[in-house]
Amino acid sequence: MTVRMRHLYREVTPNARDAFTADCLCCWWLYQLGLRMRTGVLLMQRHLHNYVALITLAAAASATAVFVLASGKVTPNYSAAFFLAALGVLPELVTYKMARGATGSVAIIPFLAAVLVAPEWTTVAAVSAAITAVSIVRRRDAVKTVFNTAQATLSVSVGVLAYRAAGGVSVIGSADLASFAATHVVAVLALLFAFVIANSASVNGVIAITEGTNFWVVVRDNTLATAVYTICSGAIAYGLAAVFVRWGMVGAGMMALPFIAVRQFYATSLQLQQTNRELLELMVKAIEARDPYTSGHSRRVADSATIIARGLGLSSRQVDRVRIAALLHDLGKIDEIYAPILRKEGRLTAEEWKIMKTHPIKSAELVATLSDLKDVVKPVRHHHEHWDGKGYPDGLAGEDIPLGARIITFADTIDALTTDRPYRRALGEVEVRAEFVKHCGTQFDPTICGHVLSPAVWSELFPGTGGAVAQREVTRTPQSRPAIAAM
Ligand SMILES: [Fe+2]
Repeated sequence: MTVRMRHLYREVTPNARDAFTADCLCCWWLYQLGLRMRTGVLLMQRHLHNYVALITLAAAASATAVFVLASGKVTPNYSAAFFLAALGVLPELVTYKMARGATGSVAIIPFLAAVLVAPEWTTVAAVSAAITAVSIVRRRDAVKTVFNTAQATLSVSVGVLAYRAAGGVSVIGSADLASFAATHVVAVLALLFAFVIANSASVNGVIAITEGTNFWVVVRDNTLATAVYTICSGAIAYGLAAVFVRWGMVGAGMMALPFIAVRQFYATSLQLQQTNRELLELMVKAIEARDPYTSGHSRRVADSATIIARGLGLSSRQVDRVRIAALLHDLGKIDEIYAPILRKEGRLTAEEWKIMKTHPIKSAELVATLSDLKDVVKPVRHHHEHWDGKGYPDGLAGEDIPLGARIITFADTIDALTTDRPYRRALGEVEVRAEFVKHCGTQFDPTICGHVLSPAVWSELFPGTGGAVAQREVTRTPQSRPAIAAM
């Protein structure tokens, strides 16, 4: 799957033209070319300009390498390369939306097939021309055209270089396509991975810059979420190349229709994922609307829980499920029974506490209504359990408490202590740390506590202070070890 940027720059006021300075290479040559886009002034952020320039230079360098490798020769395969690259135009014209403002297409299939039949510079030129043509037809502005052409050129060039380095040759002329696939499997995989890595890195990078989002979060949403489909695309690409070899342009042309089916499959799957994300967002907003004192609580707990889960070395899927459980841990509070208690200012009575302590059960019941969230029901239900068994609602102890719930307990405590409440002011980093140290092994899982108090995780949880407290402790300790070890 290829991905393309939909949102490359931001709109600013005309005065921002002054920021269009010559100390940014990309700005400079775009300005020289007069590519100032529409009326008014549209200006990219400076670091984004540099990034686009970097991708363009990398594309030029890799394409030159492919050209030099072939000594500029044109083989008879050039017509096949241009035909298969032209097949990629159709899916590029019916792209689908992906996460974070990117669009995707199944053009990767004909583009990879073009490399398999013609692993040479003519394929690079053909794909570049196809992407440029699509941009012109779709009336994309100059900057997007430059970026999309550059990243496609880079992806194909790197793919050709990897394919040839792994011993790949043109599939044309092979009498036995099955044995060709068997003997060149490493080369085909090298092509697939090189293409996908170059394509994903360049597009995810530009999205991360424009959104100010962590690069790896974008990779998770855009690349890892579709990894299975991408691998399938590699197999289909080989099938397309084989059809081309056996039945020529007519046979390969007829495979264009299945492209639309594959595209629909992609689009439907991504739409479902998008709907799930939006549903989750809706639920979080519902929780926050009910509890004015804890506005933003769910998101902050989810952020902290994600940091702790990553710090524990959990897989990206496990981290994602912990994040979802953290987002929904207080979902039950939207029930009417808690409304007067949540609105009450001042301390709660024993009876009110008794009612509030049922909210994890209510949260778990609501979460359980969605089949896709079955695995987060227990972490939600048990987020107020204590390591020593004195928590609620079930009094679970130790590792009987789901790992996700034990992580959320830390994140929940951090947010509860660091936000103002009707009955006290927000506490600082030192007090929070003291709280964890004090209750480690009673309320909190001691192993997780060690990780949370370690400089690496603590500095992420308290970035404003740079994890100063944890760093000071490490400085005083001859051997850098989690604070929990000294307790
Ligand atoms: Fe809670």
